[in-house]
Amino acid sequence: MPNKTKIKVAVHGAAGRVGREVIAAVSKATDLQLTCAIDQLDKGQISLEVPYYNNVEEALSEHSTDVIVDFSLAAACLGMLPHVIHHKVSPVIGTTGFSDKDLRYIADICNDNKIPGFIAPNFTIGAVLLSKLAAMAAPYFEYVDLIEEHHENKIDSPSGTAIQIANAIHDAHSDPFSQNHPTREPYPGARGASIHGINIHSSRMPGRLAHHQVTFGGPGQSLIIRHDTNDRECYMPGVLMAVRKVLSLHDFTVGLDQLLDND
Ligand SMILES: NC(=O)c1ccc[n+]([C@@H]2O[C@H](COP(=O)([O-])OP(=O)(O)OC[C@H]3O[C@@H](n4cnc5c(N)ncnc54)[C@H](O)[C@@H]3O)[C@@H](O)[C@H]2O)c1
Repeated sequence: MPNKTKIKVAVHGAAGRVGREVIAAVSKATDLQLTCAIDQLDKGQISLEVPYYNNVEEALSEHSTDVIVDFSLAAACLGMLPHVIHHKVSPVIGTTGFSDKDLRYIADICNDNKIPGFIAPNFTIGAVLLSKLAAMAAPYFEYVDLIEEHHENKIDSPSGTAIQIANAIHDAHSDPFSQNHPTREPYPGARGASIHGINIHSSRMPGRLAHHQVTFGGPGQSLIIRHDTNDRECYMPGVLMAVRKVLSLHDFTVGLDQLLDND
């Protein structure tokens, strides 16, 4: 493919666990051109064969870029956005841990400046399907619990994916779910966090990457829907799909399901 038709891509959070996978995946894609990598770490601490910057403004001033992929920290992503908008670069955001107010800000700054943008709390196809299947099952059960397990370094709990799944289940169930409220709770919190009355239990430990399980309960039966990921490569098909589609989006778009439904 001639160079001029390639989508030019920068990576923010490039030295991180997912950022490095993005660098590798974009480098391999023949329709994409990796322009630069940005991270707060000193260049000496990492080895990336691509122009490397600690400063997003400097990076985008020096490298014409169409799309920036962000897997960093919520605060770092928010700090990056005004520069990205200034350079008319479309953000594809994988970072999690944003408040609702942050998410409104991200959508508004993109929409107000007519810059197409995209965010997904989970870039794996399996998690998107889990959410859809759980929403399909929700009307038929009165009890539900959500368990999510991640690696020990994850800084937000519950996961953005668990919150999104809870919202999808809630939207698909007309009344509140039934819940057990313990009358004796010597160790508070044993029933987990609660979103719309749906209990969420978060586990963090080595040997895990990202795992989500929804358990529905009804008289004499339960239904378990579970998704496991074991390698960060799992995010790359979704990330590359978002990079290829973001420039043709009209409004700021949330969730990989929106891109799949567009196919
Ligand atoms: N949406 C998804 O599917 C998905 C999947 C995995 C991880 N995540 C999220 O992506 C984010 C990154 O995950 P990770 O496991 O790669 O984390 P990580 O800690 O390995 O990487 C984060 C990187 O961001 C860099 N960074 C921090 N502050 C910065 C700043 N101000 N400017 C530039 N770079 C900065 C860090 O130096 C680090 O290299 C987290 O929020 C995580 O929850 C999302």
